[in-house]
Amino acid sequence: MSKLTAAISAVGGYVPKFILTNKMLEGMVDTNDEWITTRTGIKERRVLKEDEGEGTSYLAIKAANDLIEKGGVDPTEIDLVMVATATPDGMVASTAAFVASEIGATNAFGYDLLAACSSFLFGMSTAASYIESGRYKKVLLIGADKMSSIIDYTDRTTCIIFGDGAGAVLFEPNTEGLGLQDEYLRADGSGRKFLGMDAGGSIMPATEETVKNRKHFIYQDGKSVFKFAVSNMADVAARIMESNELTDEDISWLVPHQANKRIIDATARRMGLDNSKVMTNIQKYGNTTSATLPLLLYDYEDQLKKGDNLVFAAFGGGFTWGSIYLKWAYDK
Ligand code: UT7
Repeated sequence: MSKLTAAISAVGGYVPKFILTNKMLEGMVDTNDEWITTRTGIKERRVLKEDEGEGTSYLAIKAANDLIEKGGVDPTEIDLVMVATATPDGMVASTAAFVASEIGATNAFGYDLLAACSSFLFGMSTAASYIESGRYKKVLLIGADKMSSIIDYTDRTTCIIFGDGAGAVLFEPNTEGLGLQDEYLRADGSGRKFLGMDAGGSIMPATEETVKNRKHFIYQDGKSVFKFAVSNMADVAARIMESNELTDEDISWLVPHQANKRIIDATARRMGLDNSKVMTNIQKYGNTTSATLPLLLYDYEDQLKKGDNLVFAAFGGGFTWGSIYLKWAYDK
């Protein structure tokens, strides 16, 4: 009997309609289009403003419904809905449970997965393991973040970077050897002082003081995070190539987390990859945290061919980082 692998069989995505451009940010904080473009590669990002009171689940539901519609998926056949996110709807109730109900996945269980910008990458490993175990046949993994809910739009070090969005993929069993091939995932908790949000968790619950002192917004020591990200993302991608004896010619696409164009370029250089093989959409969405990787698949799906070798790489708060090697399973 051939080995069961876990392949991506459908993709969906959603970004909010409102576009926050670099020019608009120039009127909000002390910054300029030239600085943002040369330091990050970002020109614009999306912000969820469609309806008051809509959270991350709104984005996740849109992306999942896009996948269901385009992929002709019967939602009642979905076994598990996972929402990878750093900005769940709320602190206690599972966002994924709500999403599952709203998309008609009435036979599924659901939970959230939180590993900052590596949430989706780690979720791919989790989703694939469920499929490879033979216990489940359809696992829906959504990466969704409403970063605007934790961004201080008076802080130029963070508000120029992040955006809102969601992407979804369906994992199913495959007997042709396609899908997830290998992974190398890492974490180092000493990094949490460089990137995070002070208040709102169990260490510092919300008080009048925490609100007044703007502690419910994300902070980032950009320079330190950059140093860790640039070396670690390149290291893990190179390691995945080595352990699978992949040359640059074997790789069809690098699917890198979209935090900074300079980090993406450094990773591609280390892998010896031509720019034409590097998926990029940071210029139009910024850093959407858990949604960057599935939004790349959403944007590039038309160009993907069955058997293509994809190398994913991500780095995020925690610190968390890693790389996954996956064979694409279908022609669009
Ligand atoms: O996705 C999760 C992981 N996150 C990352 O991987 C992000 C990693 N870090 C980065 O991408 C970069 O560090 C940033 C884009 C956040 C910042 O770029 P940088 O080249 O590291 O800039 P910097 O923080 O070293 O600041 C350089 C200068 C400073 O001025 P001085 O001290 O040289 O006079 C900053 O005050 O740029 C100034 N600056 C800005 N100027 C205009 C900082 N932010 C801005 C801004 N507009 N928005």
